[in-house]
Amino acid sequence: MRVKGILSVPGDKSISHRALMFAALSRGTVRITGLSPAEDCASTASCLRRLGLGISQPEQSARTSAMIASNLTVESPGLHDLSAPVRALYAGNSGTTMRIISGLVSGQSFTTTFDGDSSLRRRPMSRVLVPLSQMGMKVDYPREAEDVRGTAVGFAPFSITGGHLQGREFNLDIASAQVQTALLLAGLQAEGETVIRMPARVRDHTERMFKYIGIPFEQSEDSTIRVRKLEEPAAPFSLSVPGDLSSAAFFIVAAVCLPGSDLLLKSVGVNPGRRLILEVLGQMGAELNPETVSEVCGEPVADVRARYNKRLKGATVSGDQVPLGIDEIPVLALAGATCDGVFTVTGAAELRHKESDRLRAIVDNLRAAGVEIEELEDGFRIQGSQRIRGGSPWRTYGDHRLAMTALIANCIFEQPVQIEETDSIRISYPGFAEHLRFLVSE
Ligand code: S3P
Repeated sequence: MRVKGILSVPGDKSISHRALMFAALSRGTVRITGLSPAEDCASTASCLRRLGLGISQPEQSARTSAMIASNLTVESPGLHDLSAPVRALYAGNSGTTMRIISGLVSGQSFTTTFDGDSSLRRRPMSRVLVPLSQMGMKVDYPREAEDVRGTAVGFAPFSITGGHLQGREFNLDIASAQVQTALLLAGLQAEGETVIRMPARVRDHTERMFKYIGIPFEQSEDSTIRVRKLEEPAAPFSLSVPGDLSSAAFFIVAAVCLPGSDLLLKSVGVNPGRRLILEVLGQMGAELNPETVSEVCGEPVADVRARYNKRLKGATVSGDQVPLGIDEIPVLALAGATCDGVFTVTGAAELRHKESDRLRAIVDNLRAAGVEIEELEDGFRIQGSQRIRGGSPWRTYGDHRLAMTALIANCIFEQPVQIEETDSIRISYPGFAEHLRFLVSE
């Protein structure tokens, strides 16, 4: 099998979330084009509607699988006139929605209850709720949740009562763009200065969008950001979202592993905090050329050409590199499985706290398919092989990135794996299977 053709992947999920959420920082009509069709972004839109933002509904929802329109307008009342939600904000499967909107409502003098699906209810929220509480926000857990978990709190469902926040200095120990963004949104509503120091580089969509829409902040070389209270709302803005590199990553891996492949992925966002996939595959010997890099609404965008060159060499991904490609590690493991050498990932314990324990899932699924793989506490080590048997069950744990990885594995392995489900793909890329079918040929 090989993949050939030209494709525009859907809009970037991280940027789409922020475009919708940061509309709340302005007052008036915000226009967004190229928004991600991901269910996660529809979850963000539904939470924001409950807070009083007017977000247009998709016109063709009956005909397309998208739950949110790709071009829409947001009518924002501004940060000082958000409405107290009557019902809980349901973030579905989306950690980004729950964590960043927690920051948004932390400065609002009403109570907001958050909930999510069974996967999101298991993901750690204390990483945002603890620092937000230190700024003056109050968080409560329903009695039943406390009973079920004993004394352990820090998981959804929870309620935030916002109010008078005081700026603080934070030295974060987790390199998380979500946490950083939540604290920045709180800082824009707090007295005094909020200072956030990151332990490593992460995607900088928030900073780029703040600059683009005119939210003042200061940034220094050592990944420190300072914000003060936003006295005036930002002017309404128009923003165009580039293609999602994390979605493109699946096709890129297929192209560099399958002889005879040649793909052109149009207008993909190549934020410096997301480029691990391109860098590691390049080190492994892949021919990957980001062509015509330009800037669109503050974000670097390129057409990425991915071609089969030769069998990939081994590589090591570790430490500070990991946040630059955390979402791509499941599919990168497939490139590792077929490489001529050893492929090692360390420093990636965060993968255990994503939509599923992705480390355990990668190891179990690949091992069942005949890959020689060792699980490490914070990663895995693979001895690559030119031929991978496959034909084994593939568990997804309802995790979209594991389901899409399986569909790519089916192009690479000798026998297709039996995928537990592919429904979860709608979380980030409805239409993925159709796009893959369009590109694949024998
Ligand atoms: C995201 C940041 C990353 C990433 C997630 C989206 C964002 O999470 O895994 O899919 O949009 O800020 P962390 O910031 O928690 O690492």
